Amino acid sequence: MDELREVADLLNRSNCAVALTGAGVSTPSGIPDFRGPQGLWRRIDPRRFEIAYFYAHPGEVWRLFVDTFLAQAEAKPNPAHLALAELEAKGKICAVITQNVDGLHQRAGSKRVIELHGSLRYAVCTSCGARFPLSEVLKGPIDDAPRCRVCGGVLKPDVVFFGEPLPYEALQDAMMLAELSDVFMAIGTSLAVAPANRLPLIAKRKGAKLVIINQDPTELDEFADIIIRGKVEEILPRIAELI
Ligand code: OAD
Repeated sequence: MDELREVADLLNRSNCAVALTGAGVSTPSGIPDFRGPQGLWRRIDPRRFEIAYFYAHPGEVWRLFVDTFLAQAEAKPNPAHLALAELEAKGKICAVITQNVDGLHQRAGSKRVIELHGSLRYAVCTSCGARFPLSEVLKGPIDDAPRCRVCGGVLKPDVVFFGEPLPYEALQDAMMLAELSDVFMAIGTSLAVAPANRLPLIAKRKGAKLVIINQDPTELDEFADIIIRGKVEEILPRIAELI
């Protein structure tokens, strides 16, 4: 396929290629995406993951979180994650910016991973800001919202809820990488959610080539230099092979 060769050539020539990943990179690991045909937001009202709803019903949202997100802790990296780690190891991409909270890029061996939407590793206290490993917090049954053992405040999973700001440092790093990149690849994301979906446009405005790899159309297809439609778990290993 010519586009695969074109992307491999772009990566070979680039000084700073950056990948922005979304839930589509983890569906081959058995984790549902949000807006695809089997997406989470087709089963669950996303308003239940708004931050105001969490403060009003923390126990309910914790139970929902455990039911929907915790299976992700068992998932394993798939060939898409492994190919991205291989591209970084070969010096062909300089970072992965991810909207995913599953930690699978790191487990696949990617070293420079920027987590824009938090992670499943921690819970954070909504009063004093203390952070605790989620595994520790979830040792007992979740009848109600778990409490901070320092100040007694309500704990929240350390993932970004709708209406919350993104982690400051991660967003700064991501914007800097978008500005510096000469190739920007958006992979397995519908590009429907801000501010992550502004990164490809920042990169493009600074002169980067924009590559979109996704099985369905995305919100930014009209700005792409190359669009590859298909499964990331097949496409990324083939690109890595061509390098
Ligand atoms: P979406 O569910 O919006 O988009 C995932 C995209 O991946 C869809 O367009 C699918 O068609 C595509 N896809 C699924 N499996 C694929 C595969 N094997 N190969 C190629 N493409 C595939 O997920 P995101 O764009 O990541 O926010 O969503 C962004 C944010 O919205 C998430 O981080 C989450 C959500 O609300 C928070 O939790 C804060």
